[in-house]
Amino acid sequence: MSNSIESFIDSNRVKFLEELRTLIRFHSISSISENKGEVQKCASWLKAHLESIGLKNCAVYPTDRHPVVYGEWLEASGKPTLLIYGHYDVQPVDPLELWDNPPFEPAMKGDKLYARGATDNKGQFFAHLKAIESGLKINKTLPVNVKIILEGEEEIGSPNLNKFLKSHTGLLKCDLVAVSDSPMFAKGMPTICYGLRGLTYLEIKVIGPSKDLHSGSFGGAVANPIETLAKIIAKLKDDKGRATIPGFYDQVLPLTEVERLNFAKLPYNEKEYMAEIGVPALTGEEGYSTMERTWVRPTMELNGMVGGFTGEGAKTVIPSYASAKISMRLVPEQDPEEIAGSFEAYVKKLCPPSVKMEIIRHHGGQPFHIPLDSPVIKLTINALKRGFGKDPVFVREGGSIPIVASFKKILGVDTVLLPLGLPDENTHSPNESFYLPNFYDGIKTSVYFMEEMAKYSD
Ligand code: BES
Ligand code: MN
Repeated sequence: MSNSIESFIDSNRVKFLEELRTLIRFHSISSISENKGEVQKCASWLKAHLESIGLKNCAVYPTDRHPVVYGEWLEASGKPTLLIYGHYDVQPVDPLELWDNPPFEPAMKGDKLYARGATDNKGQFFAHLKAIESGLKINKTLPVNVKIILEGEEEIGSPNLNKFLKSHTGLLKCDLVAVSDSPMFAKGMPTICYGLRGLTYLEIKVIGPSKDLHSGSFGGAVANPIETLAKIIAKLKDDKGRATIPGFYDQVLPLTEVERLNFAKLPYNEKEYMAEIGVPALTGEEGYSTMERTWVRPTMELNGMVGGFTGEGAKTVIPSYASAKISMRLVPEQDPEEIAGSFEAYVKKLCPPSVKMEIIRHHGGQPFHIPLDSPVIKLTINALKRGFGKDPVFVREGGSIPIVASFKKILGVDTVLLPLGLPDENTHSPNESFYLPNFYDGIKTSVYFMEEMAKYSD
């Protein structure tokens, strides 16, 4: 890269940071209907911002819920096209009382910016916009064609993005997708992420008597829905930490020996890991390390459970129902729909005749991975090496970005995951933060990525 882009980036740090703070101030929580207007305002601001940095054909595309923002620069004739994806929606902020600063008033402490959405995902995708801005400002051109797609529904499972992809295959036609929406392995360790887990999310409701019953008058004669639900849930995993759903592991690609060795080489301190998350011991599927358990093995989690009396004091009652929200993180080649089907059939079988059961299917997403010898990995290594001054490490991740699998399926292109976050940035939690050196190095990495992509295609 010409030194002038580099010095442009260095001398515009304050301006870039101020703009990021403006973007973060939108309360763009996609799951809360009251915030719909804020999500829309954020989209409009982004569209105007894409225009201001020199992108063309910028638009806010409405969907059934939250809009998609698009922009492009297609003047690198004969060069390949890079599609950059990010999401401008964020998770809810509760519990609010655990935040040290108001979640949408970005606060600087040392080299970190604290706010909801700081790392997930506003700060991370904004780095790419600043790279484009810098390139266009200094060179009046970019090494490759660029398209930007910013989603407003990632945190609610991307319910409308697949449809958008299918109806806009021409608009989104590209050679490669880049996404920065995950953590680096550790601070100072540039990272290539080559796999994500998928997800399927269900809710079980166990329904007993038609109303709450006096536990003295009726206790002993009817099934208690909470107890019944607890028993069903207890049967979902065996004592080796494995899910008991028939066929659950049938499609799971086994961990390769190369991956096992790669993961084992990554610096990992179990004590620090436990201290960071505040647990007295780790547990999981027998025979696998923590990284293997969280990156390449499927899991089942109980996200929340409600039922009966939880108010002040004691109330003697047999509740009329109980419910649980259960999700499963899936790995290649498990299929979310298929697994949801097996789960449903299995829990229905476990349900005794003394209660009724209702199952609701929430969102899901396909798992994703690209082979380590995929040609795009090489150019990503070069870009990260130049941006961060070090060779990257290779990881898979346990989280999900459902649309990534659709880029392959619908647009036929691979995705490179270029993490700019850190593992301790409290995503989805109070006091979310973004480590700003990664923002600035990320901007440079994105500039280099475009350069490497152009070279690669020559
Ligand atoms: N940025 C995350 C995805 C992520 C987290 C990737 C950690 C790798 C490691 C993304 O915004 C997210 O939270 N995704 C949801 C998807 C779900 C709502 C369908 C997730 O993983 O829970
Ligand atoms: Mn998220």
